[in-house]
Amino acid sequence: MSPSDPLNFDRHAFGPDFVWGTATAAYQIEGAVDRDGRTPCVWDTFGRQKGKIKTGETADVACEFYDRYESDLLLHKELGFNAFRFSLSWSRILPDGVGPNQGGRINEAGLAFYDRLIDHCLSLDITPWITLYHWDLPQALELKGGWPNRKIVDWFAEFTDVCTKAFGHKVKHWIILNEPLAFSVLGYFTGQHAPGRRSFRNLLPVIHHTALAQAEGGRVVRRNVPDAQVGTTFSCSPIDPFTPSDQAAAIRVDALMNRLFIEPALGLGYPKELPFLAGIAKKVAKPGDIERLAFNFDFVGLQHYFRAVVEQSYFMPYLWAKDVSPLRRNVQTITEMGWEVYPESMYRIIRQFDQYEGVKKIYITESGAAFYDRVEQGAVNDKARIDYHQNYLQQVLRAKQQGSPVEGYFAWTFLDNFEWAEGYRPRFGLVYVDFRTQQRIVKASGRWFQQLLAKKSFVSKY
Ligand code: GAL
Repeated sequence: MSPSDPLNFDRHAFGPDFVWGTATAAYQIEGAVDRDGRTPCVWDTFGRQKGKIKTGETADVACEFYDRYESDLLLHKELGFNAFRFSLSWSRILPDGVGPNQGGRINEAGLAFYDRLIDHCLSLDITPWITLYHWDLPQALELKGGWPNRKIVDWFAEFTDVCTKAFGHKVKHWIILNEPLAFSVLGYFTGQHAPGRRSFRNLLPVIHHTALAQAEGGRVVRRNVPDAQVGTTFSCSPIDPFTPSDQAAAIRVDALMNRLFIEPALGLGYPKELPFLAGIAKKVAKPGDIERLAFNFDFVGLQHYFRAVVEQSYFMPYLWAKDVSPLRRNVQTITEMGWEVYPESMYRIIRQFDQYEGVKKIYITESGAAFYDRVEQGAVNDKARIDYHQNYLQQVLRAKQQGSPVEGYFAWTFLDNFEWAEGYRPRFGLVYVDFRTQQRIVKASGRWFQQLLAKKSFVSKY
């Protein structure tokens, strides 16, 4: 297949070992927030505060995946995906946040749920990919200070230890963190995400403790599951200057959005282009920390949705730059999230990460789009979402054909779900969920993947 010909789309062009999956997160799909010993996480608490979730909804029920995982995974199998990425709810497994080594309990019922889920995946020949942390910090730990408290590194290490000892004999793909930039900045600096704290004072400790936990988590998985593939994920976007005079602003935003967490892991330290990060070494780090930030990951997970165009701004402290919205740029193709659809950015971001010597393998651990979906005569004809995945996949292939070690694509996401502070309104799923009845309807995009993955060669009708 040639990248310039979007109609001939053959999965085999990606190679026999390419991983085709969907990605999900515990809090967005499970529901059952107070069942079988689970205690609240920061999102349960945050979501109950007035005005924090735009639609006023909660994730108490979500997709009821906790009860429906068997039939849902059968559907996942039917669509032809060979990998399923899900996360573990920390407070379902450790209701006190900490385990026995730090005075807390292990919730056997919580472990049992994931054990059943993993076994079900394996029985269907679907490879489970576990994310250890997808933003649902136990509220018990937030009460002890949360990510600004350095003890979180030990808390997270023990959680990782418990999970890998429980499942490491059957799960060989482990992802340490989901998008560290998102939960540190949105959770503790802008306050748009849980726990909703807003201060610059916390930001540097949160960044540093997150980067330490990222590496420490990797070491724990490596120790307990020596034959595991260990990775971690990053939200990432190519950054373009709005005008030639915004070049320096673009460099700073790139340092924040794309380099902040990978470079310390690669042993390169924090990016120097953001002067405020120097405060970490001066005020936050302890002797030996810089070495502890490094970990030799087997792969990196790139989570890519849109490109960013930025300009210099004197109103944005520390960064001195701001986003130029797609609307201001007269972009026609934007998603329900207001994100620009710009397929080439997928190619560019893969090539950017590929430049790092220490990046050995890349998986696209998330990409997808929210569009307004309408059920008509029992069907959802989401052509825009098909175009999105097809065009972004095309760019993955382009990078791969030029030598980038990209080995898999996880569509975000399997089921429509609880989209954090946006509530249930933006729908990213390949499968439509009627949240009143919990009925599932495979969208045209789900059928598109099914055809792509089923056939030896496949001509997209779009
Ligand atoms: C990612 C996040 C997912 C999902 C997605 C779509 O940043 O990891 O949980 O919400 O964005 O917004």
